[in-house]
Amino acid sequence: MASRPVVTYCGLMSPTGLATSRMLLRRIRSADVDLLTALNDDPGVMRHIDRAPPSRAAVAAEIDALLAARERHPGHGRFIAEDHDGVFLGWFGLIVLADGPAAPSLGYRLRPAHWGRGLATEGGRALVDHAFTHLAAERVTAETMAVNAASRRVLDKCGLHYVRTFHEHFDDPLPGTEHGEVWYEITRDQWRHAGGTSNPHAC
Ligand SMILES: CC(C)(COP(=O)(O)OP(=O)(O)OC[C@H]1O[C@@H](n2cnc3c(N)ncnc32)[C@H](O)[C@@H]1OP(=O)(O)O)[C@@H](O)C(=O)NCCC(=O)NCCS
Repeated sequence: MASRPVVTYCGLMSPTGLATSRMLLRRIRSADVDLLTALNDDPGVMRHIDRAPPSRAAVAAEIDALLAARERHPGHGRFIAEDHDGVFLGWFGLIVLADGPAAPSLGYRLRPAHWGRGLATEGGRALVDHAFTHLAAERVTAETMAVNAASRRVLDKCGLHYVRTFHEHFDDPLPGTEHGEVWYEITRDQWRHAGGTSNPHAC
């Protein structure tokens, strides 16, 4: 028997994940290791993340950890983004960190060929709505480098608010580390007051 959809958007239904108007955010699987390794191998993608991309073995280990985490928190985790023709676009995440499942962390990483089309905003909004509608989240958090202007703009457009700047120690810091990392959040009340959706144009 087919599993039930996690959630539906804009009338599009999927048995495997979240459907947005232009994407399917499907559950990650072990076989995604080469897609994710290739994504990380793009220097533009890693500019605000790390000096060097993780090895294929490290990506495989990361996927194993994500699959194990999904056993504990089935509606959270990393979702592979594909267009409706099945073309790999990147990934979105709603990850359980130290604050637990009530305060998951939003993340995203897309292939550069698909930047600038509003896809990160579309997927981020879908996951914010998913967190508050289906996962009983009390807040959704995110962090990025202060100098990662595109990522900060996406967080703004997903309804998250800047909370604070903080500084971490890195042995080999990326350019811009001196400006710190920024923490963003949206609470359940903020989400509700915004109309119960992070997307003012949701259909
Ligand atoms: C961050 C990322 C996901 C954005 O994806 P995207 O699909 O291009 O994002 P969107 O199109 O939804 O929105 C991007 C917004 O940032 C703006 N933007 C892009 N580059 C910018 C820059 N250098 N300075 C200021 N704003 C910028 C865009 O104009 C757009 O805002 P607008 O709609 O008001 O015009 C993508 O660049 C990426 O994958 N980067 C590498 C991974 C990464 O840094 N992830 C975040 C780490 S925490």
